[in-house]
Amino acid sequence: MANEDDMGLAGKVAIVTGGGAAEGGIGNGKAAAVLLARTGCKVVVADRDKKLAEETAAIIAKEGNTASAIAADVASERDCAAVVKAAMDRYGRLDVLDNNVGIAHQATVLEETLEHWDTMMRVSVTSMFLMSKHAIPAMVAGGKGGAIINISSISALRPRGLTAYSTAKGAIISFTRALAVDHGPAGIRVNCVAPGPVYTPLVYAGGKMTPEGRERRRESSLTGTEGTGWDIGNAVVFLASERARYITGHTLVVDGGATLTSRRRDG
Ligand SMILES: NC(=O)c1ccc[n+]([C@@H]2O[C@H](COP(=O)([O-])OP(=O)(O)OC[C@H]3O[C@@H](n4cnc5c(N)ncnc54)[C@H](O)[C@@H]3O)[C@@H](O)[C@H]2O)c1
Repeated sequence: MANEDDMGLAGKVAIVTGGGAAEGGIGNGKAAAVLLARTGCKVVVADRDKKLAEETAAIIAKEGNTASAIAADVASERDCAAVVKAAMDRYGRLDVLDNNVGIAHQATVLEETLEHWDTMMRVSVTSMFLMSKHAIPAMVAGGKGGAIINISSISALRPRGLTAYSTAKGAIISFTRALAVDHGPAGIRVNCVAPGPVYTPLVYAGGKMTPEGRERRRESSLTGTEGTGWDIGNAVVFLASERARYITGHTLVVDGGATLTSRRRDG
């Protein structure tokens, strides 16, 4: 059931891209979708993998809240348009867009291929352009503005061997600021979350993460706290909510202070 404190989000409609999570885990999008729904927001969970989107929607429904799942590859403009249309058809309005999809890849510029560079930009940056292009007119039509949250990374601020990823995540910060300027007069706030090393399927699925690697990432937090998808989801809910009504064009770093230290401890 919805929270008593709805943060001004009850009855609103949100889209979360990449709202699934592999291996039954909690990703940043999945957590944001569940937490938005707990405020009373109706959530369209979009994921390339329909089964994963359905798992998130099922968790939301089990809690007595409202969500629907849709299969969409956000690298495709047709799919992005279809996600916005689904929100409008099912719930009649659109208020919040969590542009969450991103892919990671470790390579220096010498190791990188043009093909992979292009894929990185398409999936991680162009996808946010396409989703925003289709979502903003729907938000404006609702007459109450809206909130867009783009997921960047501390890799944009403190690169660490993932050059294409760092570049994509840096572009997202500039994209956020440009959108905030262009669409502020329409009542649309646009902010960015830059997560630190959080324990999501992106980093561990398929046995990618050793226990030592996980521990190194936890230790990169100044308090020794392991970041999770819930930490990112809570930041997304805050920026989407009325509590952030005077915040736009901002990049909120959510990393337990990892960027304050220069030691390379987060694997
Ligand atoms: N996990 C971290 O440590 C970390 C750190 C910094 C930033 N981030 C960012 O947070 C965001 C979410 O990351 P996560 O760790 O939760 O990832 P995740 O891989 O655990 O979940 C992402 C979901 O996105 C879906 N997806 C992937 N490509 C897609 C596409 N083209 N279209 C639609 N859906 C697609 C996947 O199927 C998956 O369900 C990403 O932008 C990532 O770069 C993560």
